[in-house]
Amino acid sequence: MRSFSGRDILSLKDFERSEFFHVFDVAAELEPIARERRNTDLLADKTLVTAFYQPSTRTRLAHEAAMHRLGGHVTGFSDAKMTRAGDWYQESIKDTVHMLEYYGDVIVMRHFQQGAPAEAAKWSSVPIINAGDGWGEHPTQVLTDLYTVLNEVGTIDGLTFLCIGDMRMRTMHSISYALTQFDAEVIYVAPPDMSLTPEFKKELDQCNLRYTEAGHVADVIDKADVIYMEPVVQPDYTKARQEASADKGLTPDNYKVTRQLLAQKAKSDAIILHSLPRMDELPSDVDSTRHARYWEEAFNGVVMRMALLALVLGAME
Ligand code: CP
Repeated sequence: MRSFSGRDILSLKDFERSEFFHVFDVAAELEPIARERRNTDLLADKTLVTAFYQPSTRTRLAHEAAMHRLGGHVTGFSDAKMTRAGDWYQESIKDTVHMLEYYGDVIVMRHFQQGAPAEAAKWSSVPIINAGDGWGEHPTQVLTDLYTVLNEVGTIDGLTFLCIGDMRMRTMHSISYALTQFDAEVIYVAPPDMSLTPEFKKELDQCNLRYTEAGHVADVIDKADVIYMEPVVQPDYTKARQEASADKGLTPDNYKVTRQLLAQKAKSDAIILHSLPRMDELPSDVDSTRHARYWEEAFNGVVMRMALLALVLGAME
């Protein structure tokens, strides 16, 4: 297995099966620190730089919380508009990263352009963590999600994942790449204009992922062990930011998971993951069902970022 020390976390396409389990093991080792709301000094001499060119609640703050739990320091920007990259100068990724690498020891970047973190990694002497790039990938979220599945179900192998939402979405790409490393099946349910692209299907076929597509959640939910959701009503992820419109639209029933549907058709022990934020595809009365695991997923978001920061900064092998 390759060492994680000094490594960029850009994509799950290149993650090997043993690497997933290694990251999960490190996360499990560090989890008690977060569970007991303690702070340690594992990364006391390290600084995280946050470079978010797109809005975020969870990903940025989970990385920051993780750094605090490990005794490290945090600096950075969360509003690119207030930097030279977001003003009149439109400073390049290359020049920006050549600055940021002197301000800390690891950079976590979210960007509206697919491939921007990979471009940053070309110029950076410190590890770059991709916190979501356009429609590209969201590797730290999906590592969090699979860690949650492992903890809640006890296995990833042998499970059927029902992926519902916009298949252009970065989480859908990362989870699909990740599941090629497990003995898992995937059923995708998406609106026709948000379905898997022919190019992405070709990639999945080359990786030997077992998957099917369906038109309505109600037709396939009985097969699912893990119900993995994203909104179909959502902003354009290739834009830096979109203001809310008066009428965002409603989610068709095909892509919604309701209490009633769960009671009528879901497996008794199926779990629901949603990286959030949500729209009406997942009504809040589902939160109190035994299927909901998205708050555990949110907690695990801090644990997973602790593991990744400790690994890429060489504090854990
Ligand atoms: N899940 C996720 O990426 O949330 P944020 O956009 O709030 O970071």
